[in-house]
Amino acid sequence: MQIKITKTTAPKEKPFGKELGFGKIFTDHMFHMKYNREKGCWYDAEIVPFANISLHPASTVLHYGSEIFEGLKAYRTKSGNVQLFRPIENIRRMNNSAERLCLPQIPEEDALEIYKTFVSVEKDWTPYDEGTSLYLRPFMFGNDESLGVHAVHNADFYIIASPVGSYYKEGINPVKIMIEDEDVRAVRGGTGYAKCGGNYAASNRAGERAEQKGYSQVLWLDGVERKYIEEVGAMNVMFKINGEVVTPALTGSILPGITRKSCVELLTKEGYKVSERLLSLEELTNAMKDGTLEEAWGCGTAAVVSPIGELCYKDIKYTVNGGKIGEVTQKLYDTLTGIQWGKIEDTHGWIVKID
Ligand code: PLP
Ligand code: COI
Repeated sequence: MQIKITKTTAPKEKPFGKELGFGKIFTDHMFHMKYNREKGCWYDAEIVPFANISLHPASTVLHYGSEIFEGLKAYRTKSGNVQLFRPIENIRRMNNSAERLCLPQIPEEDALEIYKTFVSVEKDWTPYDEGTSLYLRPFMFGNDESLGVHAVHNADFYIIASPVGSYYKEGINPVKIMIEDEDVRAVRGGTGYAKCGGNYAASNRAGERAEQKGYSQVLWLDGVERKYIEEVGAMNVMFKINGEVVTPALTGSILPGITRKSCVELLTKEGYKVSERLLSLEELTNAMKDGTLEEAWGCGTAAVVSPIGELCYKDIKYTVNGGKIGEVTQKLYDTLTGIQWGKIEDTHGWIVKID
């Protein structure tokens, strides 16, 4: 695939050594290509200086939310190299999301070449400090210039990048999560398993309420019975109950997280009993009451592995593991970040090095 590269003539100062936060600073370039259904392919692939995007006021994305995205990171290793973690999984998930929203597919080999070329151009932006990385945000949207509601004929695909620190201000310290009993995030048959912007827009009201009460994010229940645990706002969730690691099964309304999948694979290899199954709120609250809930954590690209120190349901607060990070959570964090930052040898074939 041909990617035209136009370098910026005004490179920005890199913010290294400063507080990075999450997704506030952007690199010098972005990747862009266009799709047209009549042409039947993506075209005009290019890396250009980072700039605003200009859209027709009737563009599909502005009216009907025809948008999907991904999130993955490039990591700086001790020896100064830059590497990606399981990018092919993000590419596959993006194509699944695209299928759900009637957006076009990007062939896997092309997508991988695009990711690698873009990161190679921006690799000097990968920060060096402990716990930092270069967050990549690929996104695609429908861009027909007409108000009819239909599967789109024109789409745009971009990648932007942002040097980041931790997602939560708490870093690796335990976060407080509120179990949401009013709004729901997704239902089976809907778009819960797709990474589309609309899922996040619909989550904001509950997230806002939780923040006002001092909680970092909400824990969603299933959208039909409000009986089963699903996931947190921007991460999947895992519990250690009486020695068993339980994570909600992928029933169609939960995002199939790549960190979740990696945690399941790592824990299974370590010999833990790991169950991907339905977990009812009743089972969880009973475990919190009788002390068999040993640990709880969220897992996601942005949040990595994030211990949960408190869960709140209908204003009743439950402290998990004395509000401290648990043994399994810490071990998972160390192993996963060890592989990502190249401190631990990757025996799984998860790492893709950037030249
Ligand atoms: N669930 C939601 C709603 C998310 O936004 C994310 C973040 O991407 C995840 C789960 C975790 O997915 P991953 O581990 O692939 O980042
Ligand atoms: C990620 O972990 O990559 C996410 O997409 C979370 C994001 C919504 C901040």
